[in-house]
Amino acid sequence: MADVTDAPMRAMSRRGGADVCTTEMVSAEGLVRGSLRTRTLMARLPEEGPLVVQLYGGDPGGMAAAAELAEAHGGFVGIDVNAGCPVPKVLKCGGGAALLRNPALVGRMVAAMKARTRLPVTVKTRIGPAPGEVAVFDIIHAVEDAGGDGLAVHGRFASAGHAGPVDHDLLKRAVAATRLPVVVNGGVNAAADALALLRATGAAGVMVGRGAIGNPWLFGEIAAALDGAPARAAGRCAAAALDALKEHLALAVAFQTMLRRLYPDVVPEDVEARAVASFRLHLFNYFKGMPGASALRRDMARCRSVADVIEIASPLAVPRGDVP
Ligand SMILES: Cc1cc2nc3c(=O)[nH]c(=O)nc-3n(C[C@H](O)[C@H](O)[C@H](O)COP(=O)(O)O)c2cc1C
Repeated sequence: MADVTDAPMRAMSRRGGADVCTTEMVSAEGLVRGSLRTRTLMARLPEEGPLVVQLYGGDPGGMAAAAELAEAHGGFVGIDVNAGCPVPKVLKCGGGAALLRNPALVGRMVAAMKARTRLPVTVKTRIGPAPGEVAVFDIIHAVEDAGGDGLAVHGRFASAGHAGPVDHDLLKRAVAATRLPVVVNGGVNAAADALALLRATGAAGVMVGRGAIGNPWLFGEIAAALDGAPARAAGRCAAAALDALKEHLALAVAFQTMLRRLYPDVVPEDVEARAVASFRLHLFNYFKGMPGASALRRDMARCRSVADVIEIASPLAVPRGDVP
């Protein structure tokens, strides 16, 4: 997720039990142009597990060149193509959700990438651009014919953004339409959601989006539920949230320090302030639904250091604030 799944969040997700994580989307054009800012999106921490890099673009030649550069960069177990994002900067270059109306281009892209990298090439897509325009089957066949290695399918139309129901039936038919592994995505906020989605679709795996923000434990809970443990709602308490927050912040500082060392021309000196700024969304989500959480949004604005964040979050972790 752009602006969300940076290296510290991925490292936390890994600690929480994620099998594989994906970078934020990376512009193929930026990578080929040699943009250092684009490069910062590909940096990883040692604490992370297997990592896939996601590229976006609309031109097979550019995507293939970017795939080669990504492989040379190192640290990735696969390359994923974004064929579902509806934000203007992605649509403008002919990538993301624009590809939903051009499956042949997706095929050319995957074939061109496969010719330039030995890494597996997968495609993350949606069920279609808008209701009445189901595109997922054509995309799947294009990927399969081009020699692609798998897909992730978000069970919503691009026109729905990230809201509304996830179409389990279409996802099930998408899984059945190909011999390639299909990972299903959308609306997984608890282990029970993952089980329901996997049972309904027969998919090879499940991908978690927003449900993992502030909840790295979700991955372990899903794994346990798949092993037969009774499914339960995300079990966290304020004390555990505070511990995770401290771990996450330490990773954020370590990551910004590393970026500053690698890319001093584009990463400013004040690494701690940058780490804290990157942490805003996560802070609130660690404590979401707990007593006192809403004040965090306001108080976070004045935080400049790790100590400031811990100071505003610590009162929430007094035992009487715990939730089961
Ligand atoms: C803030 C945000 C950023 C996202 N960025 C990306 C992205 O860079 N690449 C991508 O494939 N999907 C992206 N997505 C979509 C998610 O990966 C996922 O498909 C979507 O949120 C549905 O899953 P969920 O209901 O579990 O959140 C983004 C979603 C959000 C909310």
